[in-house]
Amino acid sequence: MNTPALETERLILRKWERADIDALFALLRDEEVNTFLPWFPVKSREEAERFYEERFASQYQKPCAYHYAVCLKKDGVPAGYVNLSGIDGARDLGYGLCKAQWHQGIVTEACRAVIAQLKKDGIPFVTATHDVNNPRSGGVMQNLGMQYQYSYEELVQPKNVLVTFRLYQLNLDGDSGRVYREYWDASAVHYVEQDVPRPRTQKQLGRPNSLDM
Ligand SMILES: CC(C)(COP(=O)(O)OP(=O)(O)OC[C@H]1O[C@@H](n2cnc3c(N)ncnc32)[C@H](O)[C@@H]1OP(=O)(O)O)[C@@H](O)C(=O)NCCC(=O)NCCS
Repeated sequence: MNTPALETERLILRKWERADIDALFALLRDEEVNTFLPWFPVKSREEAERFYEERFASQYQKPCAYHYAVCLKKDGVPAGYVNLSGIDGARDLGYGLCKAQWHQGIVTEACRAVIAQLKKDGIPFVTATHDVNNPRSGGVMQNLGMQYQYSYEELVQPKNVLVTFRLYQLNLDGDSGRVYREYWDASAVHYVEQDVPRPRTQKQLGRPNSLDM
């Protein structure tokens, strides 16, 4: 299964295509959108093309991957992305969205559809991590019903910055006790914070729960 197309109320999720390079460039060149991501904003269309080849086209050669362009139905142009990295390990959910579309629940809606597909395909769990200085990303995780597990420090390259991450996890196979421990084990500085906000319920979000989580 490789990035099967998905549809939600407002979105089409599909593979990135070579024809999307301009939209990808717009997303990757934005300083603010890329502040907390493990790459520097790109400076040229050629760099965006390389990003497409290395991080999307190569994934589509694999038997199983989930690397989505998130397109608004109203124009069909990719406004962001949702990825699952480390499909045999951390199963790490990553996302980004162009600034013009922030604050409308777009990434939450996209991730919910991707997670429903992962569950259908038998992926046992997903994790996601965010920089403590980027709490809105944690907000998406909470919206998705993911549970905070622990925090840890990591020196992130290529930016060479020491980041404290929060790890969230959602088990999809009914094994509610499983915790992905590899970041904890790999980091000398790790701890559980007591005051991290709890996941928001679907009622609080005012949306039906289509995932039965
Ligand atoms: C983080 C990002 C993906 C969010 O996208 P979005 O579509 O605006 O997010 P959503 O509206 O689906 O969900 C975020 C919401 O979570 C909710 N939320 C719940 N708990 C929250 C908390 N503790 N802190 C902040 N927001 C919280 C808020 O309602 C927030 O929306 P608001 O800021 O409009 O009130 C977007 O800002 C982005 O692309 N940032 C840059 C890239 C990035 O940081 N990616 C994540 C790397 S880990």
